[in-house]
Amino acid sequence: MAADITKHLYVYCWVSFCVLFMFIKLAKSDNYIVHMDISAMPKAFSNQHTWYLATLSSVSAKSKAETNPTTPFSKLIYTYNHVIQGFSASLTPAELESLKNSPGYVSSVKDRVVKVDTTHSFEFLDLNSGTGAWPVSSFGKDVIVGVIDTGVWPESESFNDDGMSDVPSRWKGECESGTQFNSSLCNKKLIGARFFNKGLIAHNSNITISMNSTRDTEGHGTHTSTTVAGTYVKDASYFGYAPGTARGMAPMARVAMYKALWEEGAYTTDIIAAIDQAITDGVDVLSMSLGLDGVDLYEDPIAIATFAAIEKNIFVSTSAGNEGPDVETLHNGTPWVITVAAGTMDRDFGATLILSNKVSINGLAQYPGNFTSTEFPIVFMDTCSNKTELSKIKQKIIVCQDPGKEDSLDDQFNNILAAGNIAAVFITNSSSVDVFVQSPFPAIFLVQKDGDTVVDFIKSNTDPKASIVFKKTILGIKPSPRVTSYTSRGPSYSCPLVLKPDIMAPGDSVLAAWPPNIAAARVNQDLVFTNFNLLSGTSMACPHVSGIAALLKAVYPNWSPAAIRSALMTTSDQIDNTGSPIKDIGGNLRPADPLAMGAGHVNPNKALNPGLIYDATVQDYVDLLCGLNFTQQQIKTITKTSSNNCSNPSLDLNYPSFIAFFNDRGAKPNSTTVVEFGRTVTNVGDGSFTYKANVTPINGLKVTVEPDTLVFKTKYEKKSYKLSIEGPKQLHKAVLFGYLTWEDSGKEHVVTSPIVATSYKIEK
Ligand SMILES: *[C@@H]1O[C@H](CO)[C@@H](O)[C@H](O)[C@H]1NC(C)=O
Ligand SMILES: *[C@@H]1O[C@H](CO)[C@@H](O)[C@H](O)[C@H]1NC(C)=O
Ligand SMILES: *[C@@H]1O[C@H](CO)[C@@H](O)[C@H](O)[C@H]1NC(C)=O
Ligand SMILES: *[C@@H]1O[C@H](CO)[C@@H](O)[C@H](O)[C@H]1NC(C)=O
Ligand SMILES: *[C@@H]1O[C@H](CO)[C@@H](O)[C@H](O)[C@H]1NC(C)=O
Ligand SMILES: *[C@@H]1O[C@H](CO)[C@@H](O)[C@H](O)[C@H]1NC(C)=O
Ligand SMILES: *[C@@H]1O[C@H](CO)[C@@H](O)[C@H](O)[C@H]1NC(C)=O
Ligand SMILES: *[C@@H]1O[C@H](CO)[C@@H](O)[C@H](O)[C@H]1NC(C)=O
Ligand SMILES: *[C@@H]1O[C@H](CO)[C@@H](O)[C@H](O)[C@H]1NC(C)=O
Repeated sequence: MAADITKHLYVYCWVSFCVLFMFIKLAKSDNYIVHMDISAMPKAFSNQHTWYLATLSSVSAKSKAETNPTTPFSKLIYTYNHVIQGFSASLTPAELESLKNSPGYVSSVKDRVVKVDTTHSFEFLDLNSGTGAWPVSSFGKDVIVGVIDTGVWPESESFNDDGMSDVPSRWKGECESGTQFNSSLCNKKLIGARFFNKGLIAHNSNITISMNSTRDTEGHGTHTSTTVAGTYVKDASYFGYAPGTARGMAPMARVAMYKALWEEGAYTTDIIAAIDQAITDGVDVLSMSLGLDGVDLYEDPIAIATFAAIEKNIFVSTSAGNEGPDVETLHNGTPWVITVAAGTMDRDFGATLILSNKVSINGLAQYPGNFTSTEFPIVFMDTCSNKTELSKIKQKIIVCQDPGKEDSLDDQFNNILAAGNIAAVFITNSSSVDVFVQSPFPAIFLVQKDGDTVVDFIKSNTDPKASIVFKKTILGIKPSPRVTSYTSRGPSYSCPLVLKPDIMAPGDSVLAAWPPNIAAARVNQDLVFTNFNLLSGTSMACPHVSGIAALLKAVYPNWSPAAIRSALMTTSDQIDNTGSPIKDIGGNLRPADPLAMGAGHVNPNKALNPGLIYDATVQDYVDLLCGLNFTQQQIKTITKTSSNNCSNPSLDLNYPSFIAFFNDRGAKPNSTTVVEFGRTVTNVGDGSFTYKANVTPINGLKVTVEPDTLVFKTKYEKKSYKLSIEGPKQLHKAVLFGYLTWEDSGKEHVVTSPIVATSYKIEK
């Protein structure tokens, strides 16, 4: 008998990176998300739920393969109200076949496992209590952000509700009781806590849920939700690193946690149930640091569920993924959400090595332990590859030179870890040094130039000695921001015609709240605990944008999700703190292209006053789905209605960015083509403005804008223009890019859109 294969997903956090492991088990039944046509529901049924139960009951009876029939109650996992018309159920292959012939059946997709993308960022983003987005938005007052994640540690100081007003009466959410959790743990800051694991349990009825409540046993959700909207906590730090007052992006916004990611696994059936509930409860913003790789829009339950959120004017922020720097690795490339890439900040953590000749040298370090100020002998051990020799050294600081081979730093690190000694100095230019800095033994990482100084000192002294001071926080690092190597790159698999990611936000070494009973690091053999942890990933970048979107929601409650996304994108920065183009760590420090960082690095104060916006309605997204030649059934799966108006199909969504494909492999040499885009912008500035277009020259392409001047007489007036890109049918380079800017004559607003021309071809 054929058995279906299901995959379970486990999240494992090591040092600061969350790694995913999968293992495979054999199962007979599988979970399916089933789309139904409600208009086919017989009148005899009072509601959809009873209809679905009756349908499942008849399917079980018909299914002859069933030797031990289960009741329809145990087959039905969730009935969904908003995100889809339909339900999820655990079905055998025979039952699924039988269901396909039931009245009202539209389509079904198998449940999938989902990827979790794993104090100072507010200053780096220029958020200031006196002026700009914080005071103007009253710090995001009364905006409700729903976070779909691993739960929360409700006792965290970051959920302290001092000075917050009563919960808005429109809120319909709840604080559900469960293991080590009851309603008294919610307050005016953490206003909702719910958990969803029926899909997980349906996959394995024998599973033991270690914490059957919204309480966080992994830390990820506590970190992301407090990055969005944590309140002020004085004297926060990671073992002395990053000290200061911690706070989220929208300190006065409310948080509702929807726990759908479990230590035991994470499934789409649970995640879309969480989104469904968040819509019912009345969130304004949804933050989701998770995604599915390589799925089509009409088969991506998260894309489908978020369409329902957009219909309700809920802003949805998602993470791009951590599969960079390869191209076409991005997930959540969905046209109606914002997709966030991860950048660095201007902050480093380190230590100072003080040589006995009084020369001080700074390096990177995040060793969490306490270290003595005593001077020790220091010895140079070349590449630190001879374990026998290393084990003979006692009571010394060991210096290692990284030969720069693949994994060589990894080997050195493990050799020192095994040998054990006072401390280690690694001289390396490895781009993966971030993975090693949270070392369980005292270690400092030096660049070659500084390493040479140390080696010269050792070689020219008969009795070289040194001491090390850890827990240094260095601000003002230049250049920053930079695009991280790991952030996933576009084009989007599910919708290549919309340029993704959309924007970049801080994602590297972000300090936020952490459950005090989950080890954050190791010191030698001992686990160490803290209330604040440093984590890296697009998981950390996404909640920054969720929080900033909450600030904009507070100021412009009636703006559509597309308008808020447009304001964030067109005001973002392409220039770093040295005045040069932002560089890509994953691209040998070349200027970052929009497939890596989107429009640019988010700038919350400028986003308050974007000048022009590129808006989009739900019908615009339908026009796109029609233009993509999706079948009526596929479109219906997303929109939940059979009356989709496809009279105006269009691949040209009114988006604040442009991507053109020049990938005709069979083209005659030197033959050219023109790709055209139509756009409509709305004046959201107060009064009349005249804007002029400017396009950065792109070598090998001819880009024109028609008309190149737009005159607005009144607020909310709309004007259209056409952008044309003439280029070779087959581009000789993988990516060319530049920017279109619209600037008003008073130089009050600069509205910037990235333009990408690429020869990539998405193979499906
Ligand atoms: C809720 O839990 C807290 C802490 O565990 C406890 O002190 C409190 O009595 C509980 N409240 C209710 C209503 O059960
Ligand atoms: C569940 O547990 C029972 C009893 O321990 C065992 O017989 C059964 O095979 C288990 N089922 C699965 C799916 O692991
Ligand atoms: C988890 O809690 C819910 C609600 O309290 C309960 O219905 C369910 O049976 C529990 N599940 C497990 C596996 O304990
Ligand atoms: C380091 O010292 C501080 C202050 O004395 C202490 O609270 C902390 O537990 C120490 N850390 C470790 C890892 O021993
Ligand atoms: C390691 O060093 C020892 C001396 O301490 C030497 O005998 C041995 O040959 C070295 N091993 C290698 C692989 O170089
Ligand atoms: C790193 O160092 C190795 C050897 O020390 C060298 O070959 C390589 O070019 C360096 N890489 C960079 C990016 O500086
Ligand atoms: C959709 O179908 C039309 C007509 O067959 C075709 O011209 C067009 O290229 C197709 N569009 C896409 C995106 O495949
Ligand atoms: C469909 O949309 C077009 C505009 O694109 C409109 O003219 C037409 O009335 C719409 N049809 C229906 C049935 O709503
Ligand atoms: C293509 O253009 C290049 C440079 O403009 C020229 O040297 C070459 O002869 C052209 N090839 C053909 C087949 O026209």
